[in-house]
Amino acid sequence: MTTAYRSRKKKVSIVGAGSVGTAIAYACLIRGSADVLALYDTNAAKVRAEVLDLNHGTQFTPPCSVDGGDDIAVTAGSDLVVVTAGAKQKPGQSRLELAAVNVKIVQTLTEQLLSQSPEAIILFVSNPVDIATYAAVQAAGRPYRHRIFGSGTVLDTARLRFLMASKLGVAVENVHAFIVGEHGDSEIPLWSSATIGGVPATAFVGPSGNTLDSAIRDEVATAVVQSAYQIIEGKGATNLAIGLSSAFMVEVVLRDEQRVLPISTLQNGVHDLEGVCLSLPTLVGGGGAGRVLEVPLSEGEREGLHASARALRDVQDSLGL
Ligand code: 2OP
Repeated sequence: MTTAYRSRKKKVSIVGAGSVGTAIAYACLIRGSADVLALYDTNAAKVRAEVLDLNHGTQFTPPCSVDGGDDIAVTAGSDLVVVTAGAKQKPGQSRLELAAVNVKIVQTLTEQLLSQSPEAIILFVSNPVDIATYAAVQAAGRPYRHRIFGSGTVLDTARLRFLMASKLGVAVENVHAFIVGEHGDSEIPLWSSATIGGVPATAFVGPSGNTLDSAIRDEVATAVVQSAYQIIEGKGATNLAIGLSSAFMVEVVLRDEQRVLPISTLQNGVHDLEGVCLSLPTLVGGGGAGRVLEVPLSEGEREGLHASARALRDVQDSLGL
Protein backbone atom coordinates (compact mmCIF):
# COMPACT_ATOMS: atom_id res chain seq x y z
CA MET A 1 0.00 0.00 0.00
CA THR A 2 1.62 3.32 -1.07
CA THR A 3 2.01 6.29 1.31
CA ALA A 4 -0.24 8.27 -1.01
CA TYR A 5 -2.94 5.60 -0.62
CA ARG A 6 -2.59 5.71 3.18
CA SER A 7 -2.63 9.52 3.51
CA ARG A 8 -5.38 10.38 0.96
CA LYS A 9 -8.74 11.03 2.64
CA LYS A 10 -11.27 8.30 1.91
CA LYS A 11 -14.65 9.53 0.76
CA VAL A 12 -17.84 7.48 0.99
CA SER A 13 -21.09 8.73 -0.47
CA ILE A 14 -24.47 7.40 0.52
CA VAL A 15 -27.35 7.74 -1.92
CA GLY A 16 -30.68 7.94 -0.14
CA ALA A 17 -31.19 9.69 3.20
CA GLY A 18 -34.00 7.44 4.35
CA SER A 19 -33.91 5.15 7.39
CA VAL A 20 -31.37 2.78 5.77
CA GLY A 21 -29.10 5.48 4.31
CA THR A 22 -28.96 7.44 7.55
CA ALA A 23 -28.34 4.25 9.55
CA ILE A 24 -25.39 3.47 7.26
CA ALA A 25 -24.07 7.03 7.64
CA TYR A 26 -24.47 6.85 11.42
CA ALA A 27 -22.71 3.47 11.60
CA CYS A 28 -19.86 4.70 9.37
CA LEU A 29 -19.47 7.78 11.58
CA ILE A 30 -19.33 5.82 14.84
CA ARG A 31 -17.00 3.16 13.42
CA GLY A 32 -14.73 5.68 11.71
CA SER A 33 -15.21 3.88 8.39
CA ALA A 34 -14.30 6.91 6.24
CA ASP A 35 -12.72 10.36 6.44
CA VAL A 36 -15.46 12.07 4.46
CA LEU A 37 -19.15 11.16 4.25
CA ALA A 38 -21.52 12.68 1.70
CA LEU A 39 -25.28 12.09 1.70
CA TYR A 40 -27.28 12.58 -1.48
CA ASP A 41 -31.07 12.58 -1.70
CA THR A 42 -33.55 14.32 -3.98
CA ASN A 43 -35.43 15.50 -0.87
CA ALA A 44 -33.34 18.61 -0.08
CA ALA A 45 -34.92 19.39 3.29
CA LYS A 46 -34.51 15.80 4.51
CA VAL A 47 -30.90 15.35 3.47
CA ARG A 48 -29.87 18.74 4.83
CA ALA A 49 -31.49 17.94 8.18
CA GLU A 50 -29.75 14.54 8.36
CA VAL A 51 -26.37 16.10 7.51
CA LEU A 52 -26.86 18.78 10.18
CA ASP A 53 -27.86 16.21 12.76
CA LEU A 54 -24.88 13.97 11.96
CA ASN A 55 -22.44 16.90 12.03
CA HIS A 56 -23.63 17.87 15.51
CA GLY A 57 -22.43 14.47 16.69
CA THR A 58 -19.01 14.41 15.01
CA GLN A 59 -17.24 15.71 18.10
CA PHE A 60 -18.14 12.36 19.72
CA THR A 61 -16.86 10.14 16.91
CA PRO A 62 -13.57 9.47 15.12
CA PRO A 63 -12.65 12.35 12.78
CA CYS A 64 -15.00 12.61 9.80
CA SER A 65 -16.54 15.46 7.83
CA VAL A 66 -20.15 15.09 6.71
CA ASP A 67 -21.54 16.88 3.67
CA GLY A 68 -24.65 16.42 1.58
CA GLY A 69 -27.46 17.83 -0.49
CA ASP A 70 -29.90 17.25 -3.34
CA ASP A 71 -27.28 17.73 -6.09
CA ILE A 72 -25.59 14.47 -7.09
CA ALA A 73 -22.36 16.46 -7.47
CA VAL A 74 -21.95 16.11 -3.69
CA THR A 75 -20.88 12.52 -4.42
CA ALA A 76 -18.04 13.60 -6.75
CA GLY A 77 -14.67 11.95 -6.17
CA SER A 78 -16.00 9.15 -4.00
CA ASP A 79 -13.89 6.08 -3.32
CA LEU A 80 -17.05 4.13 -2.56
CA VAL A 81 -20.74 4.86 -3.06
CA VAL A 82 -23.49 3.05 -1.16
CA VAL A 83 -26.86 3.10 -2.92
CA THR A 84 -29.98 2.76 -0.77
CA ALA A 85 -32.39 4.75 -2.97
CA GLY A 86 -35.72 3.27 -3.93
CA ALA A 87 -39.08 2.15 -2.60
CA LYS A 88 -38.99 -0.02 0.53
CA GLN A 89 -41.02 -3.10 1.39
CA LYS A 90 -44.46 -2.58 2.90
CA PRO A 91 -45.54 -5.08 5.58
CA GLY A 92 -45.95 -8.49 3.93
CA GLN A 93 -44.50 -7.29 0.59
CA SER A 94 -41.62 -9.32 -0.88
CA ARG A 95 -38.40 -7.66 -2.00
CA LEU A 96 -38.89 -8.92 -5.57
CA GLU A 97 -42.18 -6.97 -5.79
CA LEU A 98 -40.13 -3.74 -5.67
CA ALA A 99 -38.14 -4.68 -8.80
CA ALA A 100 -39.99 -2.75 -11.51
CA VAL A 101 -39.85 0.58 -9.67
CA ASN A 102 -36.36 0.33 -8.23
CA VAL A 103 -34.58 -0.98 -11.32
CA LYS A 104 -35.41 2.24 -13.21
CA ILE A 105 -33.99 4.32 -10.34
CA VAL A 106 -30.85 2.16 -10.25
CA GLN A 107 -30.20 2.36 -14.00
CA THR A 108 -30.39 6.18 -13.96
CA LEU A 109 -28.30 6.52 -10.81
CA THR A 110 -25.53 4.17 -11.94
CA GLU A 111 -24.55 6.28 -14.93
CA GLN A 112 -24.85 9.55 -12.98
CA LEU A 113 -22.74 8.24 -10.07
CA LEU A 114 -19.98 6.89 -12.30
CA SER A 115 -19.80 10.21 -14.14
CA GLN A 116 -19.16 11.90 -10.76
CA SER A 117 -16.75 9.21 -9.48
CA PRO A 118 -15.33 7.19 -12.41
CA GLU A 119 -13.07 5.10 -10.14
CA ALA A 120 -15.60 4.39 -7.39
CA ILE A 121 -16.69 1.04 -6.04
CA ILE A 122 -20.51 0.93 -5.87
CA LEU A 123 -22.24 -1.10 -3.15
CA PHE A 124 -25.95 -1.61 -3.78
CA VAL A 125 -28.29 -2.05 -0.83
CA SER A 126 -31.58 -1.09 -2.55
CA ASN A 127 -33.97 -4.02 -2.85
CA PRO A 128 -34.36 -6.35 -4.57
CA VAL A 129 -30.62 -6.04 -4.22
CA ASP A 130 -29.71 -8.89 -6.62
CA ILE A 131 -31.85 -7.44 -9.40
CA ALA A 132 -30.62 -3.90 -8.63
CA THR A 133 -27.01 -5.08 -8.83
CA TYR A 134 -27.64 -6.91 -12.10
CA ALA A 135 -29.31 -3.80 -13.61
CA ALA A 136 -26.43 -1.61 -12.45
CA VAL A 137 -23.72 -3.87 -13.90
CA GLN A 138 -25.70 -4.03 -17.14
CA ALA A 139 -26.02 -0.21 -17.22
CA ALA A 140 -22.34 0.34 -16.43
CA GLY A 141 -20.98 -2.41 -18.64
CA ARG A 142 -19.35 -5.76 -17.88
CA PRO A 143 -15.92 -4.22 -17.00
CA TYR A 144 -17.60 -2.95 -13.82
CA ARG A 145 -18.69 -6.41 -12.69
CA HIS A 146 -16.03 -6.39 -9.93
CA ARG A 147 -16.53 -2.79 -8.86
CA ILE A 148 -20.31 -3.00 -8.59
CA PHE A 149 -21.75 -5.47 -6.11
CA GLY A 150 -24.69 -5.83 -3.75
CA SER A 151 -24.93 -6.34 0.01
CA GLY A 152 -26.51 -9.67 -0.86
CA THR A 153 -26.87 -12.17 1.97
CA VAL A 154 -24.26 -10.60 4.28
CA LEU A 155 -27.06 -9.55 6.64
CA ASP A 156 -28.90 -12.87 6.27
CA THR A 157 -25.66 -14.67 7.09
CA ALA A 158 -25.27 -12.49 10.19
CA ARG A 159 -28.84 -13.43 11.19
CA LEU A 160 -28.07 -17.13 10.65
CA ARG A 161 -24.89 -16.95 12.74
CA PHE A 162 -26.68 -15.01 15.49
CA LEU A 163 -29.42 -17.65 15.72
CA MET A 164 -26.95 -20.56 15.61
CA ALA A 165 -24.83 -18.98 18.35
CA SER A 166 -27.94 -18.30 20.47
CA LYS A 167 -29.24 -21.86 20.08
CA LEU A 168 -25.87 -23.43 20.92
CA GLY A 169 -24.75 -20.98 23.61
CA VAL A 170 -21.44 -20.17 21.90
CA ALA A 171 -19.75 -16.93 20.77
CA VAL A 172 -20.98 -15.86 17.34
CA GLU A 173 -17.36 -15.18 16.33
CA ASN A 174 -16.78 -18.94 16.29
CA VAL A 175 -19.76 -19.70 14.06
CA HIS A 176 -18.92 -20.03 10.36
CA ALA A 177 -21.91 -20.53 8.11
CA PHE A 178 -23.33 -18.87 5.02
CA ILE A 179 -26.70 -18.03 3.55
CA VAL A 180 -26.40 -18.00 -0.26
CA GLY A 181 -28.53 -17.22 -3.30
CA GLU A 182 -31.17 -14.48 -3.44
CA HIS A 183 -31.30 -11.93 -0.65
CA GLY A 184 -34.89 -12.93 -0.19
CA ASP A 185 -37.40 -15.74 0.06
CA SER A 186 -35.41 -18.28 -2.01
CA GLU A 187 -32.13 -17.92 -0.07
CA ILE A 188 -30.63 -21.10 1.45
CA PRO A 189 -28.27 -21.96 4.35
CA LEU A 190 -25.15 -24.02 3.61
CA TRP A 191 -25.44 -26.45 6.52
CA SER A 192 -23.05 -28.96 4.92
CA SER A 193 -20.08 -26.57 5.28
CA ALA A 194 -21.17 -24.78 8.48
CA THR A 195 -18.76 -25.20 11.40
CA ILE A 196 -18.28 -24.03 14.96
CA GLY A 197 -14.63 -23.96 15.94
CA GLY A 198 -13.90 -26.26 13.01
CA VAL A 199 -16.50 -28.86 14.10
CA PRO A 200 -19.37 -29.47 11.65
CA ALA A 201 -22.47 -27.59 12.84
CA THR A 202 -24.56 -30.73 12.46
CA ALA A 203 -22.33 -32.55 14.97
CA PHE A 204 -21.48 -29.71 17.38
CA VAL A 205 -22.64 -29.96 21.01
CA GLY A 206 -22.87 -26.65 22.89
CA PRO A 207 -21.64 -26.13 26.49
CA SER A 208 -25.14 -26.93 27.79
CA GLY A 209 -25.54 -29.96 25.50
CA ASN A 210 -27.54 -28.06 22.88
CA THR A 211 -27.29 -29.23 19.26
CA LEU A 212 -28.66 -28.14 15.88
CA ASP A 213 -30.75 -31.15 14.94
CA SER A 214 -32.68 -31.20 11.66
CA ALA A 215 -35.83 -29.66 13.15
CA ILE A 216 -33.87 -26.80 14.76
CA ARG A 217 -31.94 -26.20 11.53
CA ASP A 218 -35.23 -25.88 9.65
CA GLU A 219 -36.57 -23.53 12.35
CA VAL A 220 -33.43 -21.36 12.12
CA ALA A 221 -33.51 -21.25 8.30
CA THR A 222 -37.17 -20.14 8.36
CA ALA A 223 -36.48 -17.53 11.04
CA VAL A 224 -33.70 -16.02 8.88
CA VAL A 225 -36.00 -15.65 5.87
CA GLN A 226 -38.78 -14.23 8.05
CA SER A 227 -36.50 -11.76 9.94
CA ALA A 228 -37.07 -8.74 7.73
CA TYR A 229 -40.84 -9.33 7.47
CA GLN A 230 -41.02 -9.59 11.27
CA ILE A 231 -39.07 -6.37 11.82
CA ILE A 232 -40.94 -4.45 9.09
CA GLU A 233 -44.24 -5.55 10.66
CA GLY A 234 -43.12 -4.12 13.98
CA LYS A 235 -41.24 -0.92 13.10
CA GLY A 236 -41.96 -0.28 9.41
CA ALA A 237 -38.45 -1.00 8.09
CA THR A 238 -35.17 -2.70 8.91
CA ASN A 239 -32.30 -0.26 9.12
CA LEU A 240 -29.95 -0.76 12.08
CA ALA A 241 -28.38 -4.13 11.18
CA ILE A 242 -28.16 -3.28 7.47
CA GLY A 243 -26.54 -0.01 8.58
CA LEU A 244 -23.90 -1.80 10.63
CA SER A 245 -23.27 -4.54 8.06
CA SER A 246 -22.94 -1.97 5.27
CA ALA A 247 -20.44 0.10 7.28
CA PHE A 248 -18.49 -3.14 7.81
CA MET A 249 -18.46 -3.81 4.05
CA VAL A 250 -17.31 -0.23 3.41
CA GLU A 251 -14.31 -0.82 5.67
CA VAL A 252 -13.50 -4.21 4.08
CA VAL A 253 -13.20 -2.43 0.71
CA LEU A 254 -11.43 0.76 1.84
CA ARG A 255 -8.92 -1.19 3.94
CA ASP A 256 -8.45 -3.90 1.29
CA GLU A 257 -9.14 -6.58 3.91
CA GLN A 258 -9.66 -9.51 1.47
CA ARG A 259 -12.48 -10.97 3.61
CA VAL A 260 -14.81 -13.74 2.48
CA LEU A 261 -18.31 -12.27 2.37
CA PRO A 262 -21.53 -13.53 0.71
CA ILE A 263 -22.02 -10.43 -1.43
CA SER A 264 -24.17 -10.34 -4.54
CA THR A 265 -22.14 -10.30 -7.75
CA LEU A 266 -22.65 -11.12 -11.41
CA GLN A 267 -21.96 -14.83 -11.47
CA ASN A 268 -19.46 -16.08 -14.01
CA GLY A 269 -19.59 -19.88 -13.90
CA VAL A 270 -18.99 -21.05 -10.32
CA HIS A 271 -21.50 -23.85 -9.61
CA ASP A 272 -22.53 -23.46 -13.29
CA LEU A 273 -24.24 -20.12 -12.55
CA GLU A 274 -24.08 -17.31 -15.09
CA GLY A 275 -26.10 -14.24 -16.13
CA VAL A 276 -27.52 -13.59 -12.68
CA CYS A 277 -26.46 -11.66 -9.57
CA LEU A 278 -26.74 -13.60 -6.33
CA SER A 279 -24.66 -14.25 -3.24
CA LEU A 280 -21.86 -16.77 -2.84
CA PRO A 281 -18.83 -16.50 -0.53
CA THR A 282 -16.55 -14.01 -2.32
CA LEU A 283 -13.20 -12.39 -1.60
CA VAL A 284 -13.82 -8.68 -0.98
CA GLY A 285 -11.12 -6.00 -0.91
CA GLY A 286 -9.89 -2.78 -2.46
CA GLY A 287 -11.04 -3.72 -5.95
CA GLY A 288 -14.53 -4.63 -4.75
CA ALA A 289 -15.74 -8.15 -5.55
CA GLY A 290 -12.89 -10.58 -6.14
CA ARG A 291 -12.90 -14.34 -6.70
CA VAL A 292 -16.11 -16.25 -5.97
CA LEU A 293 -15.17 -19.26 -3.84
CA GLU A 294 -16.38 -22.69 -4.98
CA VAL A 295 -17.63 -23.80 -1.54
CA PRO A 296 -18.61 -27.50 -1.65
CA LEU A 297 -22.41 -27.96 -1.83
CA SER A 298 -24.63 -30.91 -0.97
CA GLU A 299 -26.95 -32.01 -3.78
CA GLY A 300 -29.86 -30.34 -2.00
CA GLU A 301 -27.90 -27.11 -1.56
CA ARG A 302 -26.97 -27.07 -5.26
CA GLU A 303 -30.62 -27.58 -6.19
CA GLY A 304 -31.68 -24.79 -3.81
CA LEU A 305 -29.07 -22.42 -5.19
CA HIS A 306 -30.17 -23.05 -8.78
CA ALA A 307 -33.82 -22.62 -7.79
CA SER A 308 -32.86 -19.24 -6.32
CA ALA A 309 -31.07 -18.31 -9.53
CA ARG A 310 -34.17 -19.27 -11.54
CA ALA A 311 -36.39 -17.09 -9.34
CA LEU A 312 -34.09 -14.13 -9.98
CA ARG A 313 -33.80 -14.81 -13.71
CA ASP A 314 -37.60 -14.93 -13.97
CA VAL A 315 -37.75 -11.38 -12.56
CA GLN A 316 -34.91 -10.23 -14.82
CA ASP A 317 -36.75 -11.69 -17.83
CA SER A 318 -40.05 -10.07 -16.77
CA LEU A 319 -38.29 -6.69 -16.75
CA GLY A 320 -36.48 -7.30 -20.03
CA LEU A 321 -33.05 -7.05 -18.37
C1 2OP B 1 -33.40 -6.77 5.24
O1 2OP B 1 -33.22 -7.96 4.97
C2 2OP B 1 -35.14 -5.40 4.20
O2 2OP B 1 -33.52 -6.40 2.82
C3 2OP B 1 -33.74 -5.82 4.11
O3 2OP B 1 -33.34 -6.31 6.39
